Amino acid sequence: MRILVTGKNGQLGRSIQNIVNTDTKIGNNQSTNNFIFVGREDLDLSSKSSISHYFGNNDKFDLIINCAAYTQVDKTEQEVELASQINHLAVKQLASIASNQQARLIHISTDYVFDGESNKPYLETDTPNPINTYGRTKLAGEKALQALMPINAIIIRTNWLYSEYGNNFVKTILRLGKERDELKVVSDQIGSPTYATDLADVILEIIKHKKFRYLGQTMQIYHYSSEEEISWYEFAKEIFKIEKIDCEVNPVTSQQYPTPAKRPRNTLMNKDKIVKVFNIKISNWKSSLNTCMAILKQKQ
Ligand SMILES: NC(=O)c1ccc[n+]([C@@H]2O[C@H](COP(=O)([O-])OP(=O)(O)OC[C@H]3O[C@@H](n4cnc5c(N)ncnc54)[C@H](OP(=O)(O)O)[C@@H]3O)[C@@H](O)[C@H]2O)c1
Repeated sequence: MRILVTGKNGQLGRSIQNIVNTDTKIGNNQSTNNFIFVGREDLDLSSKSSISHYFGNNDKFDLIINCAAYTQVDKTEQEVELASQINHLAVKQLASIASNQQARLIHISTDYVFDGESNKPYLETDTPNPINTYGRTKLAGEKALQALMPINAIIIRTNWLYSEYGNNFVKTILRLGKERDELKVVSDQIGSPTYATDLADVILEIIKHKKFRYLGQTMQIYHYSSEEEISWYEFAKEIFKIEKIDCEVNPVTSQQYPTPAKRPRNTLMNKDKIVKVFNIKISNWKSSLNTCMAILKQKQ
């Protein structure tokens, strides 16, 4: 298969690249697949003509994995048009191209399509109701994809991504913990931190799975995150515990820590569907966090 992966410099794009290039995990032999990783310099999703030009000048792909997105949740409130172009209109264009090329599309979406008011983990069939611009643009992308690709597409919604790459909560908290004696962290937003390498593994597992192999299958949404539910406050405390950083962490409410974009309160997602269909093993958040932090330490 010729597989195009967008967002090659992002957390998920780099995690997929790392696995494909090193192929260290037993059973992950992707050698029969030809992966092409692209960043905005090759394929700029903010430009309709760049997208047309890229696909017009390259051979047909069998699969497109869209890891690129406008992900700066607070900045999205100001840059609505740009975020909408990347998270919605570019996805629509990619879906149209994939459909014309008879390629499959795996698109990554977010827990932020939900309002966070549910008291039980969200199912794929629950009605989205985003409460910020980022969530609205991502939902518009999902809907455009669903309309254009009733077959041959998968949407994977994930939760609180972190990795050894780019900017994320783990790296920010580690830096702040070394600079300060005390930190206030929000304790009334609940989710499941997801290590980008775990999600990358899941995507590569899906590609290999016999249930993904054949064209013509109905579009599906899947939820994937790690196991268990925690707050950002508990996440920060665990990061300091692993790294043995002596910094006091104090819980605050979202109201005490206002941000330009409102955050959903509880975006836990039910993962039963992806487990059942693709036999996916859900990672434990603490062991994945330990793995990521050990790699970060090696890099220092
Ligand atoms: N991060 C999270 O907590 C989180 C949570 C739930 C869902 N998700 C979803 O998971 C997916 C992967 O997220 P991530 O954390 O890996 O994101 P990320 O690290 O922010 O990477 C996003 C990538 O998109 C690229 N991009 C942005 N604008 C572009 C443009 N105009 N043209 C082409 N590429 C462009 C960026 O390129 P540059 O490197 O050049 O800027 C970057 O490589 C996204 O769909 C995101 O919405 C993320």
